[in-house]
Amino acid sequence: MDVGIDRLGFYTPKKYIDIVELAEARDVDPNKFTIGIGQSKQAVPDVYQDAVTMAAEAADKVLDDDNRNDIGLVIVGTESSVDESKATSAFLMDLLDLPEDVRAFEIKEACYGATAGLQMAYNFVAMNPDKKALVIASDIARYGIKTPGEVTQGAGAVSMIVSQNPHILKLDNKSVYMSRNVGDFWRPTFSKTAFARGKYSNEIYVEFFTTLWKRFQEKYDMTAEDFDTMLFHIPYTKMGMKALRTLDGQIPAAHYDKLVEHYQKSIEFSRNVGNLYTGSLYLGLISYLVNGNVQPDEKLMLFSYGSGAVGEIYSAEVVAGFDKYLDSEFIKEELNNRQKISVPDYETIFSEELENAGITKLEDVHDKFYLSEIKESERLYKKVN
Ligand code: CAA
Repeated sequence: MDVGIDRLGFYTPKKYIDIVELAEARDVDPNKFTIGIGQSKQAVPDVYQDAVTMAAEAADKVLDDDNRNDIGLVIVGTESSVDESKATSAFLMDLLDLPEDVRAFEIKEACYGATAGLQMAYNFVAMNPDKKALVIASDIARYGIKTPGEVTQGAGAVSMIVSQNPHILKLDNKSVYMSRNVGDFWRPTFSKTAFARGKYSNEIYVEFFTTLWKRFQEKYDMTAEDFDTMLFHIPYTKMGMKALRTLDGQIPAAHYDKLVEHYQKSIEFSRNVGNLYTGSLYLGLISYLVNGNVQPDEKLMLFSYGSGAVGEIYSAEVVAGFDKYLDSEFIKEELNNRQKISVPDYETIFSEELENAGITKLEDVHDKFYLSEIKESERLYKKVN
């Protein structure tokens, strides 16, 4: 039985800043941000948005009356959750009219959370073929104003419905993974912004990739030429390229060039959104499926990396006719119809948040799901009808 991704949805906030304007405001050569880091735009979440509202937005795009009642598992991968106790998925139960006979919980392991969720969903559907799983990656990536990480911020969510006989991607149960206690990136519970040893985190990312890629090839007796495309976790678009470059000179040049060409298609959306943390790898998948010249039955390798650190490489196969199940035009339209805001406006939004006893005015809301109120420190959410 084939199990994999049947539907894919994406949401990013409607406001963004231009990276050249950010560079100018920070007195940095814009080429450093656009070429050295590889970013063009950065999503800016509104005050009424968080990991819950963005998860709801992304999931709303893939749920319908046909699949909603088949869902038996709801997993949200996030490292920017709003509660130390209650899972993001619990807030989604009524926002998304999900059936009660589901297991709903949250997974945290930095940018690896959604991959852990996807693998759990794979096992769940393999054991319960009549059921489907909803896996959502939702995060706000924040390092702070005027920090080295600022240019690698972003926000958004990706949703996936995992089922038998999937229409988009078949997972083939080939995977290698590793975990190690690493101090490359962390966010203590008191802090809204992350701490990073930036260059060290780059090194660990590449080291995890090279270690896992060697293990994958040995375990499955496969090489780079068995894959048409390699997709990477994309904290910023140059990062995956640093890992891919380790294959330069190690594999036939024509195949390396093809992998680079496909990688460029996979980073188009991230370049214009920024880091989604755990959703980044899956935004790369969406970007490749929407922008690439994807062949039916194409073989993909996916590298997931979560600081702290966990890494995994797994493989998958594109399902012929996947394009009928992915609303490419809608995704492009949503990205094109965002509103550019100035760097000072972004700085103001960055420091604003709804206070305890605060209420969001409906006229300020430009999305479907929003944080409506904080009452006795409890966050309450609503859907615009
Ligand atoms: N024109 C063109 N390129 C330029 C340039 C110019 N004028 N000036 C500098 N550059 C290049 C540099 O040569 C460098 O390129 P290479 O990386 O290829 O050497 C690049 O721009 C970045 O320059 P620096 O290394 O000097 O940049 P920095 O010290 O300001 O920090 C960063 C960059 C480490 C990525 C920082 O933004 C950061 O800490 N980000 C957050 C951490 C992060 O994203 N880590 C990624 C791995 S961990 C992970 O993946 C998990 C996750 O999601 C966080």
